[in-house]
Amino acid sequence: NTVVLAFSGGLDTTVTVPLLQEEYGYDEVVGVTVDVGQPEAEFEEAKATAEALDVEHYVVDATEAFGDLLMDAVKANATYEGYPLGTALARPVIAATIQAVAEDIGAEGLAHGCTGKGNDQLRFEAVWRQSDMDVIAPVRELDLTREWEIEYAEEKGLPVDSGNDGTWSIDTNLWSRSIEGGNLEDPGYVPPEDIYAWTEEPTGETELIEIEFEQGVPVALDGEAMDPVELITTLNEVAGAHGVGRTDMMEDRILGLKVRENYEHPAATTLLAAHEALESYVFTAETIQFKQTVDDAWAEKAYKGLLASPLVDSLEAFIEDTQTEVTGTVTIKFEGGQARPVARESDNAVYSEAAASFNTQAVMGDIEQGDATGFAKYHGFQDRLAATIQASTDVS
Ligand code: ARG
Ligand code: SIN
Repeated sequence: NTVVLAFSGGLDTTVTVPLLQEEYGYDEVVGVTVDVGQPEAEFEEAKATAEALDVEHYVVDATEAFGDLLMDAVKANATYEGYPLGTALARPVIAATIQAVAEDIGAEGLAHGCTGKGNDQLRFEAVWRQSDMDVIAPVRELDLTREWEIEYAEEKGLPVDSGNDGTWSIDTNLWSRSIEGGNLEDPGYVPPEDIYAWTEEPTGETELIEIEFEQGVPVALDGEAMDPVELITTLNEVAGAHGVGRTDMMEDRILGLKVRENYEHPAATTLLAAHEALESYVFTAETIQFKQTVDDAWAEKAYKGLLASPLVDSLEAFIEDTQTEVTGTVTIKFEGGQARPVARESDNAVYSEAAASFNTQAVMGDIEQGDATGFAKYHGFQDRLAATIQASTDVS
């Protein structure tokens, strides 16, 4: 019998291979690494590790599907506790891709190397438990610690070296790179520069770039048309060079555990800033406010790995309807590690320079400045009335 393992070549998934054979009795372990935009070196490492472990290994490209999902995330301005969702978005794509391979080869089981303390176990299994296959989580079920894994790997002579020696647990995809574990678990520990791979320490240099959106989707960078994957990859480099998109935070996981997390996400930070800047230009105040509620609900489901849901379908119907207006161009300035919108252009702007300008008298149609006098008289009426009443009934 065969089990398909979500395989990265990292410490957890490497020790999982012999355990699936020894502890779970599977004859055959097939490792699948899903390409969601990791650097090429990770596949080489996974391939080499699989070879050394003597397991069959596939790399399956899911970058296009993931890129499309990331465009949905842009439309929904998707953040969780202030950082752009990354791992959370990739997990369901990875899970579905692995399941498809398992079905193809007629496997009986699906396995992952996630711990029982994190979010990823829940995201994988939310997808897999829809199938009839056995779901196996050795790290959780055998109650493993990273320390034990390192020792076990050493004893067994498992191929864990430089990249996956267990110093940190790293998860990379097109949208973000997450670094956790090891001494980073001490919230008081200041991370060394070398946890970062995508972002430089901000220099004094600045740069302007222009991002063009069509119905909420970024389609061009500095006038050059690009598909989502190309655009994100390019922006990760350009914005990363300016130190844009670092997060060091305490995160509340689904289970309720508070953990210290480090992320880098240069393209995500840039695209979300640009998209929100454009929305604030073309939406009415009420749409902006109401959409925040819808966006928050979308991100909450995304964080849990539960985007396949009736609620999300309904939220997306609203989001899609709003995005028909989100066409235009935003100029972003990279400066001091920030991606700051500094100019915006759109034919759909709910904006009239003549109406808002301090240099013109008319507002719109027959509305004039002076017409605000009546509004100004009423503004705060109830609060002033309350103050008067409180003053007259004050006994002391
Ligand atoms: N805590 C983050 C999340 O839930 C990232 C988890 C990343 N996983 C990892 N093995 N480094 O999205
Ligand atoms: C893990 O626990 O395996 C990684 C972190 C997470 O899932 O949140």
